[in-house]
Amino acid sequence: MCGIIGYSGPLEAKKILLDGLSQLEYRGYDSAGIALFDTLSNIRLIKRTGKVAALRQACAKEQDSSHCGIGHTRWATHGGVTDANAHPHRAGRVTLIHNGIIENYHNLTNEFGLEGKLVSQTDSEVAACLLDQFYRGNPLEAIKELTLHIEGSYAFCVLFDDRPGEIYGIRKVSPLVAAYTRSGALIASDLTALIPYTRKYFVVPEGHVAKLTGYKISLYDMEGTPVSPEIMEVNWNMDSAMKNGFPHFMLKEIHEQPQALKNTILPRMSKGLPDFTDDNIPDELFCQCTKIHMIACGTAMHAGMVARALMEPVLHIPVTVSIASEFRYEDPLVDQDTLAVIISQSGETIDTLAALRLAKSRGSRTLAIVNVKGSTIARESDFVLYTHAGPEIAVASTKAYSVQLAALYMITCRMALVRKNFTKDQAAAFLSGLLDAIPAMETMIARKEEEKHLVTHLINQSDAFFIGRGLDYAFSLEGALKLKEISYIHAEAYAAGELKHGTIALIAPKVPVIAIATQEHVFLKTISNVREVKARGAFVILLTKEHAQVDSSLADIHIRIPDMDDRFTVFPIAVILQLMAYYASIGKNLDVDQPRNLAKSVTVE
Ligand code: G6P
Repeated sequence: MCGIIGYSGPLEAKKILLDGLSQLEYRGYDSAGIALFDTLSNIRLIKRTGKVAALRQACAKEQDSSHCGIGHTRWATHGGVTDANAHPHRAGRVTLIHNGIIENYHNLTNEFGLEGKLVSQTDSEVAACLLDQFYRGNPLEAIKELTLHIEGSYAFCVLFDDRPGEIYGIRKVSPLVAAYTRSGALIASDLTALIPYTRKYFVVPEGHVAKLTGYKISLYDMEGTPVSPEIMEVNWNMDSAMKNGFPHFMLKEIHEQPQALKNTILPRMSKGLPDFTDDNIPDELFCQCTKIHMIACGTAMHAGMVARALMEPVLHIPVTVSIASEFRYEDPLVDQDTLAVIISQSGETIDTLAALRLAKSRGSRTLAIVNVKGSTIARESDFVLYTHAGPEIAVASTKAYSVQLAALYMITCRMALVRKNFTKDQAAAFLSGLLDAIPAMETMIARKEEEKHLVTHLINQSDAFFIGRGLDYAFSLEGALKLKEISYIHAEAYAAGELKHGTIALIAPKVPVIAIATQEHVFLKTISNVREVKARGAFVILLTKEHAQVDSSLADIHIRIPDMDDRFTVFPIAVILQLMAYYASIGKNLDVDQPRNLAKSVTVE
């Protein structure tokens, strides 16, 4: 949450910062601001509430004479959405932007007598004031002193009045990547802002300071000793982070799913079986555990719920799924016999990261499923299986979910093979079933126009219910989340058999019920539950396989996916649920890619 960028180099800084902020906007869009060194080495500050477009407009009159500056797009935590609370913050000789939370800012305000001096309600301004107090001409010393006092998470980029052309970056937990490019030196919250200039970059290590000038980037440890950065290379390009003719990133990312699945699965297939040799994941990791604990947030947690329903009957060991923010505080039952599977698109979600650290401290072996290369969760896990979705820009996750599932399905298959739950033939058949899900997804994407009319009823309703049993129930959790987050329709997912224990009281005439019935062994049971809601007047949208036998009177709308192995129906079903939410959001004229109050890469607790 919150996007930050810094630039020093020969080009015009204003344009680079504004373009970078547009790329980073999905990290927060409550307000945006930039600070620029002008030709007289004075710092100019421009900030506005609202999106980057508002800042861009405000900057239009500014001279294009600066070659060094910092920019920020905010997701409000401390203090409301006001111009004063927008970053950058200035205190004396210090101008600073911040992503994260300074937890002890209140105590620091009292301890350092800042009351009355602060012009915003933010924790970030407290850090700016302290840094100014500690600054006696040596940025590294002042930054070091600051880090000794502040608690919490942070990525800062700092300008000092008497150091024109220089930017100082430091981080703890919150991400920061940097690159020296032909266009100059850049530092940012994530790669999407750097990719127009370079594919080579480094992650600023915690406890280190990156110093950017127009000519180079230097990295120092806290004692001021120069350190060589570990250069990494990204394997996607600028096109991946653009809309490329699609009206929204979400629709583009829905379309990208079949390819993302191929990119994630195919390199890990050998002789028709899953093979993690290139990922350095040893089979012994899968053999030694007696239980699996999946930990994640949001959509990634829902991928874990699907995997749990898939894995337990195959592996015959307990599989638990925890919401990361709960796991941290519930004294979880994980130990050295547990395989902790950490799922995160960004690899930076702070609750998930803290949960990973807790699982490690209890002796669990940790395996991360992460999309962003070099992210903190990827680096701190014992093992990592990268998904290859490319950058996901829409706040509502789509392709990241599908590839997380693909990775989890492959893990299930490899584990079943090495633990002898599957013969080689069974494992090969399973993997081939997974591959067959890709054309099934393509079919549903190609039929997307059919989904448009489907939402006509939905968008006039305030509530919707998603029901299913077994795997279908796990899919419905994600369907409800998608609908809520981008169409603002209140939606709940219910195990179909549980509805009658209370929630059915909410089923009144016309209330939409999206019923998923793709699992053969519980099909008739689910259909009975559909009859129960239909009898109470619900508007039923039924999702089944192609040749499922159902009365035509049962559903108001019936969507059929291709016939396939039950275990893999999540892939085409996910497309339907994503498109349903997408068209509902469009139908209500809402901001599909940047829904209200949300942000991606949640680096606050
Ligand atoms: C936010 C995003 C979701 C995402 C969740 C977990 O809430 O809006 O799309 O599923 O964070 O993020 P992660 O990066 O850890 O997968």
